[in-house]
Amino acid sequence: MALADILQQLDDLATEAVRAFEAAADAAALETARVEFLGAKSGRLKAAQKLMGSVESADRPAVGKRFNEVKTAIEAAFQAAGERLAAGPRRVVPAEPQFDPTLPGTAVRIGRLHPITQTIEELKDIMGRLGFSVAAGREVEDERHNFEALNIPREHPARDPLDNFYLAVARQAAPAGPMLLRSQTSTVQIRVMESKPPPVRVISLGRVYRPDTADATHYPMFHQMEGLLVDSRVTMADLKSVLRLFAASYLGGDVHIRFRPSFFPFTEPSVEVDYHWNDQWIEFGGAGMVDPNVLQAVGYDPEQVVGFAFGLGVERLCMRRHGITDIREFYKNDVRFLRQF
Ligand code: FA5
Repeated sequence: MALADILQQLDDLATEAVRAFEAAADAAALETARVEFLGAKSGRLKAAQKLMGSVESADRPAVGKRFNEVKTAIEAAFQAAGERLAAGPRRVVPAEPQFDPTLPGTAVRIGRLHPITQTIEELKDIMGRLGFSVAAGREVEDERHNFEALNIPREHPARDPLDNFYLAVARQAAPAGPMLLRSQTSTVQIRVMESKPPPVRVISLGRVYRPDTADATHYPMFHQMEGLLVDSRVTMADLKSVLRLFAASYLGGDVHIRFRPSFFPFTEPSVEVDYHWNDQWIEFGGAGMVDPNVLQAVGYDPEQVVGFAFGLGVERLCMRRHGITDIREFYKNDVRFLRQF
């Protein structure tokens, strides 16, 4: 056989063996390939070695050299395949995802603040511009802050357990006496005045709870904005100016408000505050001059200071602003309603 043919046969053998070892997917396939190419008795490398005997003596060095190269290459491929299989299965690389930059994107639905939360933020903003800072209160209160310091005596109908959400708190856990969910934010008036000397100019916004039957304008849980201003010279005219400015800012310049004589134990005189809407007057809060008994209960001197206070229904304001006719919409959690704000 011509030298060139022998060398070609050796090269082909190397190519085939390397390919077979690389393709071996498991130990059994690798063993089959090993027997075929490196088998001691009838392996193809062994057969190639036997061929050497028939090579012309002049060609022998060249063929011997190529044989050794092929043998080394095949043995290295076998070893590499063994190491690859020992290292575990091959990682499957997922196909590149198809991305078409010309297609419209998928809109991401982002949430938003509840309309009442938005209203609260806006009310704080308006009252902030009128010089009122925000005071925090608590939703679980004792009877002193919800009633007594507000001049609501024990026999007053507002203290009827059926008109309030009293909590079942063990006596030892409630050193301040029976606890209840506050029925009005006026409790914060007391907490603020107890904590600092006059002058005071605060608002406080938050939830209040009453066992009212839910209808279009009532809900058992609702929000109020309480306002309190105590100073040396404060009049009912100041109260009306603040509420009129507030209503014009929040509801629009064309809103009309009126005071209607009323009664609250903690203000004297007291009024209901109404705004005009759709040809009728709607009540949105109560207000009045802080009763001297309240000033006294927190340690202020009613001879030295005087004040006004008001409490407005936040839901009613928001309803008027957005033309919402049923308060229950706020708390149904229907996103078709909530998404509009
Ligand atoms: C009070 O709660 C007094 N604390 C207000 C006040 C504060 C008077 C300071 C004087 C000085 P009234 O119970 O009227 O008052 O409630 C005030 C407002 O809360 C009402 O005008 C109304 O807008 C709203 N409101 C009352 N009950 C409900 C209810 N069940 N659902 C929704 N809003 C209500």
